[in-house]
Amino acid sequence: MTKEEETKYSYFESEPVPEHILEKMEQMRKKGKHLPDLNLIKRPSQIEGIREASKINTAVLDAVSEKIHAGMTTQEIDDIVREVTASAGAVCAPYHFEGYPKSVCTSINNEVCHGIPARHRKLHEGDIINVDATTIFHGYYGDASRMFMIGKVSERRRKLVEETRRCLEIGIAAAQPWNTVGDIGAAVAKYAHSRGYSVVRELGGHGVGIEFHEDPFVAHEAKAGTGMLLVPGMVITVEPMINEGRAGVVIDPYNGWTIYTKDGSDSAQWEHTILITETGNEILTY
Ligand code: MF3
Ligand code: CO
Ligand code: CO
Repeated sequence: MTKEEETKYSYFESEPVPEHILEKMEQMRKKGKHLPDLNLIKRPSQIEGIREASKINTAVLDAVSEKIHAGMTTQEIDDIVREVTASAGAVCAPYHFEGYPKSVCTSINNEVCHGIPARHRKLHEGDIINVDATTIFHGYYGDASRMFMIGKVSERRRKLVEETRRCLEIGIAAAQPWNTVGDIGAAVAKYAHSRGYSVVRELGGHGVGIEFHEDPFVAHEAKAGTGMLLVPGMVITVEPMINEGRAGVVIDPYNGWTIYTKDGSDSAQWEHTILITETGNEILTY
């Protein structure tokens, strides 16, 4: 373990999970709920670390938001993310993560997620693009993504972007302490379907903070009351991927990363990292 990792994990002993939380967990276990491992419940100093990483991540997305325009390449977005992150003394989590080649994901139109920035890929007026950034600071992670509409976009695309943002908000509203992760997916899917959209099932949100991807998997289409209990101190992402057409997806056979809609329809996604608190939740990537 590096020195940084040692501090990151040592809080487990010095900051135990509060007794009243453990008692409530025990009650919920008796009701048949699936409990998180105690290492998924973040301690105060860990939460501070995740909060700092998330703040930098927000500044990174703000910088992209200021500069994004028709005619620029997705490589230029990667450059902005890399430079703003580095100048904050932080690190881009995607870079070389499981062999991923770039510092951010840029997914355009029918690309669902994990679009890879490239010099040959220009943004055109009318495109919708998701920019997904994850920042590591002092070993802690913050993960968020936003949609951008390039110039004048069609009414259909604008609606997809705005309704997907609504799906994120509805998912976050369902992420209440002592609910389960299934409650998030149930709420998101109900709304998406009511708008005639479909929900991607193969990918989803995740625990985050100490590692890039931790338990639980956060499905955006699920049955209410199922899955892992949401306990105060847990940090998860909510990041619905919503398709205008059918839910099916395919993976790029050449780069092994980029996910597209199977039917070629457009897809949108928004993401926040949130902390489950005793009274609700807190968005750390605002
Ligand atoms: N940021 C993505 C997420 O929300 C993960 C991207 S993995 C990468 O979980 F390697 F493609 F960057
Ligand atoms: Co992300
Ligand atoms: Co994520």
